[in-house]
Amino acid sequence: MALSFVLPAGTAASPTVAPTTTPFAASLTAASAAGGAVQPGWAAACAVAAGAVAGARRQRKCPKVPRKFSLQMPTFPGFESKKKTVVITGASSGLGLSAAKSLAEQGWQVVMACRDFQKAEKAAKEAGMNPENYQVMHCDLASKQSVRNFVQTFRTMYQSLDALVCNAAVYFPNAHKEGVILPGLFPGGGPRWSAEGHEMSFAANYLGHFLLCKLMLEDLKKSSGTPRCVILGTVTATVNGAELGGMIPPLAHLGNFEGLEQGMKAPVTMLDGGAFDGAKAYKDSKVCDVMLMKELHKRFHKETGIVFTSLYPGCIAETGLFREHYPLFQNLFPAFHKTVTKAYVSQDEAGQRLAACVADDRYGTSGSYYSWEGEAGTGGGGGKDAVQNTEKDHDWFMNYGSFRTLSIDEIGGEAANDQRCSKLWELSEKLVA
Ligand SMILES: NC(=O)c1ccc[n+]([C@@H]2O[C@H](COP(=O)([O-])OP(=O)(O)OC[C@H]3O[C@@H](n4cnc5c(N)ncnc54)[C@H](OP(=O)(O)O)[C@@H]3O)[C@@H](O)[C@H]2O)c1
Repeated sequence: MALSFVLPAGTAASPTVAPTTTPFAASLTAASAAGGAVQPGWAAACAVAAGAVAGARRQRKCPKVPRKFSLQMPTFPGFESKKKTVVITGASSGLGLSAAKSLAEQGWQVVMACRDFQKAEKAAKEAGMNPENYQVMHCDLASKQSVRNFVQTFRTMYQSLDALVCNAAVYFPNAHKEGVILPGLFPGGGPRWSAEGHEMSFAANYLGHFLLCKLMLEDLKKSSGTPRCVILGTVTATVNGAELGGMIPPLAHLGNFEGLEQGMKAPVTMLDGGAFDGAKAYKDSKVCDVMLMKELHKRFHKETGIVFTSLYPGCIAETGLFREHYPLFQNLFPAFHKTVTKAYVSQDEAGQRLAACVADDRYGTSGSYYSWEGEAGTGGGGGKDAVQNTEKDHDWFMNYGSFRTLSIDEIGGEAANDQRCSKLWELSEKLVA
């Protein structure tokens, strides 16, 4: 990309004249913010050289004709692109990867925000994604600095954002268990910690996304269309208050945010300040994700037009999410949901559901919680065949049927109370400040 600009006669060429919005200039800023600081010796040499050039200019007479500068700029994938851009966190496997593939095939430019760059590149290639339609960028949601660096790097390459998908998650269902019955049966290991010392499920699933959403509101506002922000929820987080998945202990419970009030650092691991439980920590973090969606809607939808929604994609029983579960569970869980509850959904189909929440006009009502049960054509969890279940009738498993939408006021369970959503926001702001 050739960039030309004209300076008035007699104006010295100085770095401050260069438009700071060029990707090149911005990438320098990002590089230095990311720790790629310019070497002091190099900077001093530049300063000396710049001073010498300026001095030489002062001594000779400047010609009274406009001077034209021409810089050969490197090209960046999304900078001049007319394609819509979506950022998907945790797109290196499972649901995020399937949704990335689906959106790339629909003509979106997909930014895969992943903690493991090489794994994500390999996964995208193996999924057959066209390299022209995606870009992997490093983002570890368990580090505030990494999230900030990601946003800065994104801005060097893209002028705006059309959709943000908060998908990444970790699940340590057995981390709190002691006593190994058979080697490898219960991974145990106790709580894991983020870069800032917060319990990992809380940090990666919720707090990193909280910061990312806050920062990327600015990029979403620059979209020329109607931007969307989709945050993954789950049935086990009792946001519906009436489903079997939300009734299996340990139940999500945030208490009065006692743990969060104390800063959520060791020895505090749980939002309610209680004893560590890996499965509950995951469910709590997903409740927080839905509360975040509600609060974003309340604070920013009217002012910005951004559509904020949440999604339960069905039980994708074979993804990496269950990698820390004991082996017997990993084998039986998919079969159980395929044959008994009928709540199972394939990774591809779940990816298409998430992609629909990003791109399909039917899923554009801000504040909504979309929920699917089971594969289309199977009737889902004994309910209707992937159509809106307006009667909200239940099946044997206390599911409402294949597909339903909860409006913001219908979202129940731990996420129901608006004042608590605001309190969560305020306490989270303190942690990312
Ligand atoms: N599977 C289900 O049945 C189910 C049901 C309801 C909701 N969900 C939700 O669906 C979403 C995707 O889950 P999945 O089933 O597709 O699981 P998955 O295959 O394990 O995918 C999770 C993704 O998150 C990434 N990730 C983890 N920690 C991260 C961090 N600190 N920074 C950046 N990325 C990180 C993982 O990266 P690595 O590849 O590097 O590990 C992976 O790409 C989650 O929000 C989950 O809660 C899943």
